[in-house]
Amino acid sequence: MKVIEQYLKELNLAIDGLSYGTEPAELYDPISYIMSLGGKRMRPLLVLLAYSLKHKEVKEILKPALAVEVFHNFTLMHDDIMDNAPLRRGKPTVHEKWNDNIAILSGDTMMVKAYEMLLNVDKEILPVVIQKFNQCAIEVCEGQQLDMNFESRSAVQEEEYLQMITLKTAVLLGFSLELGGILAGLDDSSNQLLREFGINIGIGFQLKDDLLDVYGDQEKFGKQVGGDIVSNKKTYLLINALKKSNESQLENLEHWLSLKDFNATDKVKAVTDIYDQLGIKEMTQNKIDEYFSIGFKALNEMKISEEQKKPLVDFTNYLINREQ
Ligand code: IPE
Ligand code: IPE
Ligand code: MG
Ligand code: MG
Ligand code: MG
Repeated sequence: MKVIEQYLKELNLAIDGLSYGTEPAELYDPISYIMSLGGKRMRPLLVLLAYSLKHKEVKEILKPALAVEVFHNFTLMHDDIMDNAPLRRGKPTVHEKWNDNIAILSGDTMMVKAYEMLLNVDKEILPVVIQKFNQCAIEVCEGQQLDMNFESRSAVQEEEYLQMITLKTAVLLGFSLELGGILAGLDDSSNQLLREFGINIGIGFQLKDDLLDVYGDQEKFGKQVGGDIVSNKKTYLLINALKKSNESQLENLEHWLSLKDFNATDKVKAVTDIYDQLGIKEMTQNKIDEYFSIGFKALNEMKISEEQKKPLVDFTNYLINREQ
């Protein structure tokens, strides 16, 4: 884990050194706040790990790597408004600590800051980097809109769900790895495989996020457990519970989904009980393993040694087993 720890240290030091602006404080304080709450720093780490397939010294690319982290934190700030989430990384969300308008505007500013940081790449690759980043950012918005559309739709197919999480989550992991490859000057087919690796582990990652949202330990997870159940998110868990339920389980599930006024704790318990009866946890775990395996397959197709691959493999294994 040596390389990973070293890169994380460099990333966190660089994040601590970032300044976004000072006045008005209500615009900039939430940015420093959310960026200081930690998190796994997975996306910029993936940029560095892909880059390190060719160059070990990563100082030069810290800025564009951090652009991805700033963009990610912007999406979280807005996502927490949309999901009505009280907790992020174990602390109050920005819209709770300040208010919705502040979270909207600080988030907008972060998006601009992300572009500013991304400008720190060689000018020969700038157009392609911006074009790929734009594509990715738009897809994240498309995924987020689908996620919200699905809240009020009763029948969502597994395929639609997989498409939605590919957009809202997986493409950013794909982009992070591809960006690392582009910055390193790898060939197109390597960059394509890095992207494929990222997208598939990204799907596995979001499936695991949905699993932890029900079965995680709130202390470690840092987010409100049960939030997805409360807001009728059409997760892999719910979609498959609806499919596997018998008549009475289905009636019970549909009852909870249709209630406008309810006690959140009761709803989370009732729905989780049905998941337990149906073996939904195991089923989701299998699906997670499936997507991480597809990801590993793409990584294995790359013409690089096992030793070179090791940090990416180690980090992916950490993601598979994560509880936070
Ligand atoms: C949270 O991402 C949003 C999802 C795509 C599930 P992370 O789980 O990477 O959040 P942090 O940055 O580590 O807090
Ligand atoms: C978030 O999905 C994806 C993005 C932020 C784009 P979730 O809504 O599941 O993420 P968390 O659980 O709030 O981190
Ligand atoms: Mg969301
Ligand atoms: Mg959310
Ligand atoms: Mg989630």
